[in-house]
Amino acid sequence: MQQSAEQKIAVYPGSFDPVTNGHLDIIERGLKLFDKLIVTIMFNPSKKSLFTVEERLELLEKSLEKFSNIEIDSFSGLLVDYAAKQKARAILRGMRAISDFEYEFQMALMNRRLNREIQTVFLITGTQWIFTSSSIIKEAARFGGNISSMVPPAVNEKLKKKLSTFY
Ligand code: COA
Repeated sequence: MQQSAEQKIAVYPGSFDPVTNGHLDIIERGLKLFDKLIVTIMFNPSKKSLFTVEERLELLEKSLEKFSNIEIDSFSGLLVDYAAKQKARAILRGMRAISDFEYEFQMALMNRRLNREIQTVFLITGTQWIFTSSSIIKEAARFGGNISSMVPPAVNEKLKKKLSTFY
């Protein structure tokens, strides 16, 4: 029997390039289910990032200041190994539209095959964020669009600076 005092910990992994209000929405929902969330920048080999890991960590620190019971980290190995090391019982993922389903399903099944003790928990993203993503927000910002309602203020500022030197 597990002790009732054991903390319910979940890892919330992602590229967070950069963190958006859609991610914050999932974090807020996740904190209602878990005692602690570890928000971790993981390496997705199929993506080329705009921000360095250090920049993304800093943006997460600034954007998540208002939340308690949060830890911020980065890791470049296997997600289930990281979750086990952190004594997390779950991996938290946000689901936006049906188009997310196949990819998420495949990833969750692979993770379960790799470690049966860790469950993937999906939460439905708030409807105002279901058509946003870090890439689409970066693209809008790149062409001068106002994305201030879609990202935390620190991200809005950093995106403006980054994009003015990047292109
Ligand atoms: N609201 C709005 N947008 C959201 C969102 C939400 N709630 N949740 C996710 N998104 C967006 C993200 O901004 C991101 O957009 P982008 O593709 O334009 O960058 C996109 O949805 C994908 O989300 P993200 O959560 O960043 O996932 P990812 O696919 O980049 O990350 C990892 C996948 C990092 C978790 C995965 O590659 C991994 O686990 N890597 C470690 C190695 C490993 O263990 N691999 C085996 C896994 S089977």
